[in-house]
Parts: sequence; structure tokens; C-alpha cells
Amino acid sequence: MSEKKKILFSGIQPSGNLHIGNYIGAISQWLEMQENYNCIFCVVDYHAITVKQDPEILRKKIIEIAKIYLALGIDPKKSIIFQQSDIKEHTELAWILNTITRINDLKKMTQYKDKTKRLIEKTKNKIKNKDKLGNILNLKTKEISRKILSKEDSAGVGLFDYPVLMAADILLYDTEIVPVGDDQAQHVELTRTLARRFNKQFGDTFIIPELKFRKEGARIMGLDNPEKKMSKSALSELNYISLTDNPEKGAKKIMKATTDSGSEIKYNPEKKPGISNLLTIYSLFGGKDIKTLEKEYKNKKYGEFKKDLAEIIKKFLTNFQKKYNKISGKEVEKILENGSKKLKVIADKKIKEVKKKIGVL
Ligand code: TYM
Repeated sequence: MSEKKKILFSGIQPSGNLHIGNYIGAISQWLEMQENYNCIFCVVDYHAITVKQDPEILRKKIIEIAKIYLALGIDPKKSIIFQQSDIKEHTELAWILNTITRINDLKKMTQYKDKTKRLIEKTKNKIKNKDKLGNILNLKTKEISRKILSKEDSAGVGLFDYPVLMAADILLYDTEIVPVGDDQAQHVELTRTLARRFNKQFGDTFIIPELKFRKEGARIMGLDNPEKKMSKSALSELNYISLTDNPEKGAKKIMKATTDSGSEIKYNPEKKPGISNLLTIYSLFGGKDIKTLEKEYKNKKYGEFKKDLAEIIKKFLTNFQKKYNKISGKEVEKILENGSKKLKVIADKKIKEVKKKIGVL
């Protein structure tokens, strides 16, 4: 790594299908920054296991995510790509940071609240559908709420503690910048709080990292529901375009995307969330700013706009998948191994410094 360049760290979970929201919010920023920073890109497998995973699928997904990084243009000669669980110092530092994290810090995290809310919804539905004959069960309200409460309590500790592991990922390498989508902003803010808290208690140890996200595109919304974030775990496939979707299928999803009432192609996320989301996507994939697109499509219909965007997405997916299919699993394994080898030295040095500061070394 070059001494002169600042360190950039980011990562993606190997769960679900990587979609164009992940690309716009995170990876497209990485590509722009690759030349000017010492970049470390992680496949965060220990984060993925905070929700239930099938071990066989997880193993495949780890390789798939790294392959996607490469096919999109992350260059292993310039950047380091590695698998989180290969470097035990991540979990070691997470444990140490746990001791200065307050339960209240974590209870505030919206992502945790959202995920547990989803668990509760699932339980609610189960309670309703419990009758084998298909009759909706008429349980007393009291009993229902008792079951819901117990579900909240039974959310995994890993899910709750997840942001501390993310803080460890970042702080372990003296990271100065973290490019992510805006759903991760709160986690980066917590990382900054923990770094400051540690430094105050034990003396200067950690760099306070900066958050970096796109002004437009930090939150790509669901194609089927532009009021909610595009998500890997969405119930409907029409919510997202996966990078490994058949290009024709990807184009169809654009044509089916929800648009707003009226017919004007204008960027206004509050009044026109559907078309504003599509304009953001078009802007990134078509390499034109939103103002230019608004002018180009003045007096044109949604259908025409969608057709052009569908074509752009189809081309992007075709080109990407050509590159993706050429990369072998073996090649990826070697790159991940090399990445870990380089980082182990840095991680070992940092954890020793931390252990000395807290008095265990
Ligand atoms: P993950 O795997 O959920 O998402 C990966 C990246 O994609 C961004 N993203 C989006 N951006 C725009 N629009 C969307 N709809 C959208 N959905 C997701 C996310 O903000 C993220 O940048 N905890 C992290 C992974 C992580 C990490 C780290 C990131 C672990 N350690 C250290 C940075 C630094 C996560 O679960 O991202």
C-alpha cells in the first residue's frame, strides 16, 4: 500500500442477490475512488451469519461476491479484496469494542429495529395461520402480544451486535474513508463514536473515519414500491434488478417499475418517487446528469423513457455478465488468499497496539 494515500474500507454481505442499488450506492463509488486511495474491499461473511444461512449457499455466495467485485472493475493489483472471517482480529477487536459500547447505542440502530420488526411481522402471520384447517385463530390479544414480545427477545445477539463488528472492520486498518449507501450511515456514525470513546479512555489509538455517500443514489428505492429501499431480502423479485439477472429479465423489470400519477419526467422524490428513482438509475448507468435527462425527455412519455433505460440496463448486464463468467472460482480463491496475507500484518500490529492500551499485553 502506498504511504501517501489514505485508507478506504468498505464491504458487502454475501447474502441474497447483489442488486443495482448495491452497485450504485456502494461499488460505483469504490470504482471512482480506486485510483486515489489504498482500498480494502471486504466480503463480510461474519455479518451475513447474523441471519440464518444455508452453509452450502453461503460458501458459494462468498466467491460470487468477490467475483462480482472483480467483474465490475475492482483491480486486485490496485486494491485488496479479502474475506472477513480469514482475519480473526476483526472479531477480537469487536469483542474489545463491545466493552465500551452501551446497550442504548445499539438499541437506536434503525437497521436492527427494522430487522426485528420483520421477525415480529412473520410471527404475527404465523399466529394468524396456525389453524390446520385454515381457520384464522382467534387468540386473545394478550396471548398474541406475549408471543410477539418473546419473538423480539429471541432476535439473535449477533444481529444486535452487528454494528460493533462493522466498527471493528473499519477501525482495524486506520481507515479514513468509508463509501457506503445511506442505510449504513448510522453504523459509521457509531464507529466514529466508539473510536472517540476509546481514544478518550485509553489514549489516541484510532483514526476517526469519514462517511462517504452519493448525493443522489445513496438510497435506490424498490422498483415495485419506490417508497421503500431496494433490498436484497425483498419478497418480490420485481423489487430489484440483480446483477446476475438475465439481461432480458432486467429490462422487463424496468418496464414493470411503478411510476407516479401525471406524465412529466421530473426529479421530485417527494411528489414523484417512482420516476425520480428511475432518473437516478438512468443518470448513473447512462452517464448523464439528471438535469440533462429532464431536458432530453421533456414532453416525452414514461413509456419511452423506460424503454431507453431498459435498453441501457440490458447492455450493462450483458457486458458485466460476460466478464463475470470468464472469472474462475480458483482465481477468486487465490485473490482472497493474497488479500488476507497482506492484511494480516496490519491487523496484527493494530490489535497488539489495542491490547497494550487496555492492559492485556
Ligand atoms: P449490505 O451488504 O447490506 O449492502 C452493501 C452496500 O450497498 C449499499 N446499499 C444500497 N445503496 C443504495 N441503495 C440501496 N437500496 C442499497 N442497499 C444497499 C449499502 O449501504 C452498502 O454500502 N453492514 C454492511 C456491510 C459492512 C461494511 C463494513 C460496510 C460490514 N462491515 C465496513 C462498510 C464498512 C452491510 O450490511 O451492507
